Amino acid sequence: MYNIKNVLIFGAGLMGKNIAYVMASNPEFEVTLYDIKEQDPKEGIRRNTRELVENGIITSEEVEKHLKRIHFTTDIDHSAIKNTDLVIEAVFEDMDIKRKVFKDLEERCSKEAIFCTNSSVMSPSEISKNLKFRERFVGTHFWNPAHLIPLVEVIKSDATTDNVAQTMMDIFEAVGKKPVLCRKDVPGFIGNRMQHALWREAVYIVEQGIADAKTVDDAVKYSFGLRLPQLAPLENADMVGLDLTYNIHKTVLSDLCDSHEPSPLLEKLKDEGKLGFKSNEGFQKWTKDEQERLSSDLNKYLIKMLYDK
Ligand SMILES: NC(=O)c1ccc[n+]([C@@H]2O[C@H](COP(=O)([O-])OP(=O)(O)OC[C@H]3O[C@@H](n4cnc5c(N)ncnc54)[C@H](O)[C@@H]3O)[C@@H](O)[C@H]2O)c1
Repeated sequence: MYNIKNVLIFGAGLMGKNIAYVMASNPEFEVTLYDIKEQDPKEGIRRNTRELVENGIITSEEVEKHLKRIHFTTDIDHSAIKNTDLVIEAVFEDMDIKRKVFKDLEERCSKEAIFCTNSSVMSPSEISKNLKFRERFVGTHFWNPAHLIPLVEVIKSDATTDNVAQTMMDIFEAVGKKPVLCRKDVPGFIGNRMQHALWREAVYIVEQGIADAKTVDDAVKYSFGLRLPQLAPLENADMVGLDLTYNIHKTVLSDLCDSHEPSPLLEKLKDEGKLGFKSNEGFQKWTKDEQERLSSDLNKYLIKMLYDK
């Protein structure tokens, strides 16, 4: 059980706005959203949730009810910050900025407040290194788009207490998320370690001339990618048998990419300014229409998968 009412989301960018919406969807919580930049975050949240309304998953009246529980401020000395029970930080991915933010918050918030960072890759132990109350600091990694993707990884730092980690697991369940506990503070936590092991091999297959980028992606989309939401890797290994899995690994692992550096192909494309959607070319060429279609098809797919709509 937890005793949390006032939630502060620190940073009202892409992630912060959606996290604020998620937390405000439970009437137990009053949410303050802070940013250094003056803005109207509610308009952004309305835009982000439009697809949910259009698909009949939530009504616009319900969205407005949630929005009423979100209060935006640019004043770090606002009384809501002093009264915060829980902070979820979502500012730029920069160690110095994050450390400074938590130092400022530690001086202002109560001695019981829990501090969370939404950093995608930075270590919660490192971010909290100079804080006084490190045991109340924990990583909480939402995935983009945070209002749709259920997973939140709760990452224990070298000082986080079990009680604080469990409190965050309970809170994320209470807002309808699927929290998972990462017991060790390791780069990439759980999800991104697996995701980038796959990306490394995908890039390697292209680099080695085994197949082109479109073929690699098709091989995923039309095979194990289809199965993954229903049959995850370790369930799959159990299904086919660990003896078979062992034999496959004996044959194939020694040939897979095991580089500890980013791929030379990735570096070359980056240096040539082929950065993906933002330069209309990465591993493949992308027109603006194709880029928009891929993004909108992704949200439609997620809504269909998650809400059967
Ligand atoms: N974008 C993603 O896909 C994604 C996914 C998971 C986690 N994350 C993590 O979430 C965090 C935020 O990412 P984002 O994509 O929302 O970034 P963003 O650039 O969209 O938003 C960052 C916000 O922080 C504000 N900000 C910067 N410095 C600040 C300060 N000192 N005090 C208060 N506000 C400040 C900025 O004004 C901006 O509104 C990062 O740590 C990122 O790694 C991002």
